[in-house]
Amino acid sequence: MQRYEEWADTIIGKIRKKMEWCSEKNKDRIPYRTDENGNYDDRSDVTIKWRPDDGLNWWTNGFWGGILWLLYQDTGEERYARIARVSEKKMEQCFQDFYGLHHDVGFMFVPTAVADFRLTGNPDSRRIAMHAAAILAGRFNPVGRFIRAWNDLEEDTRGWAIIDCLFNLSLLYWASEESGDPRFRQIAMMHADTVRENFIRPDGSVCHIVEFDPETGRKVRSLGGQGYGEGSSWTRGQGWALYGFTISFLHTGKQEYLETAKKVADYCMAHVPESGIIPVDFRQPPQPAWEDSCGACVIAGGLLELAKCMPEGEREKYEDTAVKILRVIAETRADFGENCDAIVQNCSAAYHTPEHHFTMSYADYYFIEAIYKIKGVGRLLW
Ligand code: GLY
Repeated sequence: MQRYEEWADTIIGKIRKKMEWCSEKNKDRIPYRTDENGNYDDRSDVTIKWRPDDGLNWWTNGFWGGILWLLYQDTGEERYARIARVSEKKMEQCFQDFYGLHHDVGFMFVPTAVADFRLTGNPDSRRIAMHAAAILAGRFNPVGRFIRAWNDLEEDTRGWAIIDCLFNLSLLYWASEESGDPRFRQIAMMHADTVRENFIRPDGSVCHIVEFDPETGRKVRSLGGQGYGEGSSWTRGQGWALYGFTISFLHTGKQEYLETAKKVADYCMAHVPESGIIPVDFRQPPQPAWEDSCGACVIAGGLLELAKCMPEGEREKYEDTAVKILRVIAETRADFGENCDAIVQNCSAAYHTPEHHFTMSYADYYFIEAIYKIKGVGRLLW
């Protein structure tokens, strides 16, 4: 990756400068997105009446801590560890509340508690992360061999599994590696196998949601979820699949996971537009031209991680596409100034939601993580 290191250095300089003041300003918060004045919200603010899974247990709450651990790995500055631990400790309250917790305990506790334990050996973090892993394992449906995604809100979701969950498997892999108990890894692999068989289409495009009968495990249907519709190709979901199967391969060495990651990656690379701007869905109509910079960063990060598993001569095309995507973000969709707490702009949570093109803490996480990958800074937290 030497050919891109100089460029990455300039972006890292901008990230450091921004995070210096931004981390201090938001040191007691757990941010998700910025408001119209560029200020981060706070999902841990108990004076706000959040919906049942939008507050302290909001699925993105681990990414703020994750950003700080990335900066800690880069700079070695203790203050980043100190601020990261604020959100880790606050989120622990979710175990007491329990109701509203979901499969995204992986997204919540890998970049916080697992990262803390891996980087500092903090025994308290090990306890928190093991607790989260036990909750995630408890969501496994042994007949359908899948991890249940969400809780029932407006509909019965007992049989729903979603592509995003591949990232939560990291928590289970870590729990087995750390405790020596294979059950966590076994559950993770059974889920990954189910996803491989039921979510990945022959052309490498991916379903967002698959519903199984929760009693018999029989596949019932697939749903469009956050993408354009059933049969479409939600870009962030493509990223979760490509990066997620790469992670499953790294933890298990199972060749089929690497092949699946490559298949999804090849599909993504064939569909990245000439402009390098990533739409919300690779199969959405040309207008409105909704973008998702967050999906862009997840795809780029996945391509860079996958490239590391490839021999020389094969890996360069993945690296080149990843950097093409990241350049567009860094040079046209990033705010490194002081008027906005977030860096990455133009993210979209879903195709059909009324609002598009806003900021998301996890877009910043995956952007920063990907830039550090180019330089080889830090270890993989997943
Ligand atoms: N995990 C949900 C999302 O990517 O928006």
